[in-house]
Amino acid sequence: MRRNIVAANWKMHFGINEAENVAERMVEIIKNKTEVIVCPPFVFLDRLSRVFSDSLIKLGAQNMYFEEKGAFTGEISPIMLKSVGCEYVILGHSERRHIFGESDIDIHKKVVSAIEHDLKPILCVGETLAQRKDGKAKDVVERQVIAALDGVDLSSVVVAYEPVWAIGTGVPADLDTINEMHTFIRGLVEDVPVLYGGSVKDKNAFELAHIDDVDGFLVGSASLDADVFKKIIDEFERAKGVN
Ligand code: PGA
Repeated sequence: MRRNIVAANWKMHFGINEAENVAERMVEIIKNKTEVIVCPPFVFLDRLSRVFSDSLIKLGAQNMYFEEKGAFTGEISPIMLKSVGCEYVILGHSERRHIFGESDIDIHKKVVSAIEHDLKPILCVGETLAQRKDGKAKDVVERQVIAALDGVDLSSVVVAYEPVWAIGTGVPADLDTINEMHTFIRGLVEDVPVLYGGSVKDKNAFELAHIDDVDGFLVGSASLDADVFKKIIDEFERAKGVN
């Protein structure tokens, strides 16, 4: 179902005390209507699930393995994520694809397993700069979406369009590109929420949220500060006319 979502991807940041402080500040100030999800590192999930328990903020993980249990040293299963209160899981983030070599097949298995275990996948897709320069942006994104979601019930799926060349640079993709890519993705997944990610900040959230097919954001570095993150949600709601 198409709906507004703003999600925080904390990546590999913070120690437990800092994570808890930021989470507590979020609980104090975030009272928005938009669905808000925070995805901390695995080791903070259990503690933060308690911090978020009486709040509007939902908990997500940044990755998972597709098996339920077994000899998979260093991996985390969907059952474990559910047991510590996760509702969402980010899958196929470009850092997983490019640094850790995750393939479309791996990501498909993870999406299927997440849904089987009642976790809502936030599937990340996006082209590299070289692929964009080669005129292959849409082909790449189409392949990633179709491979990951083949045969999947889309009712709990969220897609995040994150052009690799806009992540962590401080400069988001231009509005025309985002508009074009989101409309394209919308054609593939219809009323699945499609978030934009890649250098979303409090200063650009308003103009980015004006794009009709942008249903929300996946925010990296600007989500590490609770007040900045709250401002992004406020700016998103202002642009969408949520009050
Ligand atoms: P960024 O990261 O907001 O720091 O660019 C976004 C992401 O990778 O999800």
